[in-house]
Amino acid sequence: MKIKQDLFAHKSKNWDMNSVRVRNAKKVADIILKNISMDKDMILADFGAGTGLLTYFIASRVGKIVAIDNSRSMLDEFIAKRDEFACVTDVIHGDIMDCNEEIKYDGIVSSMTMHHIENIKELFLKLYNMINIGGFIAIADLDIEDGSFHSDNEGVFHFGFDRKKLESIAKEVGFSDIRFETANIIEKPHGQFSVFAMTARK
Ligand SMILES: C[S@@+](CC[C@H](N)C(=O)[O-])C[C@H]1O[C@@H](n2cnc3c(N)ncnc32)[C@H](O)[C@@H]1O
Repeated sequence: MKIKQDLFAHKSKNWDMNSVRVRNAKKVADIILKNISMDKDMILADFGAGTGLLTYFIASRVGKIVAIDNSRSMLDEFIAKRDEFACVTDVIHGDIMDCNEEIKYDGIVSSMTMHHIENIKELFLKLYNMINIGGFIAIADLDIEDGSFHSDNEGVFHFGFDRKKLESIAKEVGFSDIRFETANIIEKPHGQFSVFAMTARK
């Protein structure tokens, strides 16, 4: 697998100390858990899991979550917290686009990572191929923004997303039952940024 430079190395240690991030992950998890029924037999992947904020809030409802992330430093924080997760966890250090499609998950969740992926059609195809028939994706990210959400846009390929465009790409790839809901509004001193949660089925 090709691993690029770790763009999160300088942020990983303090990632969980930002209460806005923790609250956002909790709100995203709440919406996902409201809309998708889960059980302890399920094995999920969390792509761009980072330090495991979303994994943490979903763990008690499933059997296992595999954290996929291309940042070694973020995964080191995930591993350090392993005992705090209420399900079995595993980690894959690598790019989501390089993941093995032979291993199928019951669902794939993700929060605040999709804007780091350049080609969304290729991403949706990859996710589609990584889940069982009847499986789901549940992805949260920013609605269209003006580019001011991040203080540094290195590694950011999208200034948020248009829900209609995402829906049409997801349909093209084969997903059905595509739904969007607003999960959170993040308040920053210079503005408000809304976060959607998108769910879809294979
Ligand atoms: C903004 S952080 C979000 C982390 C976590 N989901 C959260 O909400 O706290 C984005 C994460 O996605 C990871 N990431 C970015 N591009 C990726 C890719 N192509 N494959 C796997 N992980 C990726 C980064 O390393 C980082 O940990």
